[in-house]
Amino acid sequence: LPFLIVALVFGYLLGSIPFGLLITRAAGLGDVRKIGSGNIGATNVLRTGNKKLAALTLVLDALKGTAAVLIAGLYAPEAALVAGFGAFLGHLFPVWLGFKGGKGVATYLGVLIGLAWKGALVFAVVWLLIAFVTRYSSLAALIAAVAVPIALYFFGAHAVAALFTIMSLIVVIKHRANISRLLVGTESRIGAKG
Ligand code: G3P
Repeated sequence: LPFLIVALVFGYLLGSIPFGLLITRAAGLGDVRKIGSGNIGATNVLRTGNKKLAALTLVLDALKGTAAVLIAGLYAPEAALVAGFGAFLGHLFPVWLGFKGGKGVATYLGVLIGLAWKGALVFAVVWLLIAFVTRYSSLAALIAAVAVPIALYFFGAHAVAALFTIMSLIVVIKHRANISRLLVGTESRIGAKG
């Protein structure tokens, strides 16, 4: 058991690195939490107008999840699951930002890449499709978060499916402000500022 706690803490520490905040700050764009939705994720970094930094945020926020899974997986399969969950929680509740982190979408995808690449494919296809059609990053994430656990159950990856059911629920809860905006029609679309 203690080694699973080590895996959780290890994942958490990796996940708690707020790349969106660090990257935009390093680029002299100020505090990303003061613009758009106030989120530290790639979607909100895109609202600075810098596509490259948004892409970099997406890649690094995903990679920290993948790295946590793959490194912990060298020790034991259970450690991979626990470290992945830790990374996701670290992104959402980073101690460095007073536990006010992101919404977890990129890190969710990164953990999925490490644990079940077929699930990651489902995520990518659903996200891209919904984002392309509606231009809502949040709606794309929400629908992908519903599709992934269902797909994982069908793929027979039951432990991973259970973990992603929990992570999807947390993603939905973290998007409650987005859901309210989607319902009243004030959610900002990809490509629009603010
Ligand atoms: O990944 C977060 C995305 O789904 C929504 O981001 O900044 O529009 O709240 P944002």
